[in-house]
Amino acid sequence: MTPSGTIDRHTRCLPAGAGEDAAAAHAAVAEAARVLQAGGLVAFPTETVYGLGADAGNPLAVAQVYAAKGRPAFNPLISHVPDLDAAVRLGTFSEAALRLARAFWPGPLTLVVPCRDTGAVCDLARAGLDTVALRVPAHSVARAFLAAAGRPVVGPSANRSGHVSPTLAAHVDADLDGRIDVILDAGPTPVGVESTIVDCSGEHPALLRPGGIARADIERVLGHGLPDAAPEAAERPVAPGRLASHYAPRAPVRLEAGHVAPGEALLTFAGARPPGSAEAGLVLDLSPAGSLVEAAANLYGALRDLDARGVPAIAVVPLPREGLGEAIADRLGRAAAPRPPVP
Ligand code: TXA
Ligand code: MG
Repeated sequence: MTPSGTIDRHTRCLPAGAGEDAAAAHAAVAEAARVLQAGGLVAFPTETVYGLGADAGNPLAVAQVYAAKGRPAFNPLISHVPDLDAAVRLGTFSEAALRLARAFWPGPLTLVVPCRDTGAVCDLARAGLDTVALRVPAHSVARAFLAAAGRPVVGPSANRSGHVSPTLAAHVDADLDGRIDVILDAGPTPVGVESTIVDCSGEHPALLRPGGIARADIERVLGHGLPDAAPEAAERPVAPGRLASHYAPRAPVRLEAGHVAPGEALLTFAGARPPGSAEAGLVLDLSPAGSLVEAAANLYGALRDLDARGVPAIAVVPLPREGLGEAIADRLGRAAAPRPPVP
């Protein structure tokens, strides 16, 4: 693994479509599930688009999803589960959320609900939010894969950041060959646009992203209108004001620190020890080996840890900006941004 997060992998394409021999398709899904459980990256078909799957509870695997896509920021990801029973173990469903889930799952609908503290969807997968986006896909191969995986699976679209979403295994291969472990090939995805995302974390459901299920169909089930979510919620879900309080550390954060001031804790990378480190209250290294993928995986945990230990101030060394370094800088920038006054 290089610091930039580009990972040299051998990508295997495993046929799993309806046209395959049933036993071969079954074996392909079982192998893909094993790879995912071991922390690997598996592109899988859903009825909307191909998703780039990883174990939602494994921060290192989730970090590798961001790295493989070349995502500049840690957007919160959708977690895929096999059924509503699995979903209600991960999030708190309001009456409206339950009604929508029963009407449209399995299918191209994603519901954002308050997250339960199970650890099955890690902080990085939620970009530190206290909500979780859940979806039960309808595609038979996706359902078999999720059942075999036995855990929630993050699945952003399986394309490089800035490219269009893949509706064929060949699209996935063109974008991600050498960056992921397995592509489950089941032919073209039928819906071709991403799922509709409805925010059910507040008092009234709101539309975060239009998609595979029409607004009018959702309104019919709700019995009332479905307004658009406030633009900040849709476009900047990780704005500091919306972060769970324990992810904006209580201590002030000082970036690009060339020294450690008396009383500061040091958040460092690749073993760097700037002047003053010996007197630092606490030193946490995001990746002693200098891997930005590992640093991304450790970032939220490190911020949580610094808070738990009650450090008065945090100095952060400069980190490389390539690969996941851009997303880490984005997240640290938010952690260091001036906070709205606590009422
Ligand atoms: O059809 C789809 O939904 C595809 C297939 C593969 O399932 N997946 C997909 O995932 O489009 P993704 O990760 O690219 O979409 C994630 C979007 C984010 O950009 C964000 O807008 C929203 O879902 N999202 C996720 N978690 C959220 C949260 N807790 N609050 C608000 N928005 C959230
Ligand atoms: Mg996408």
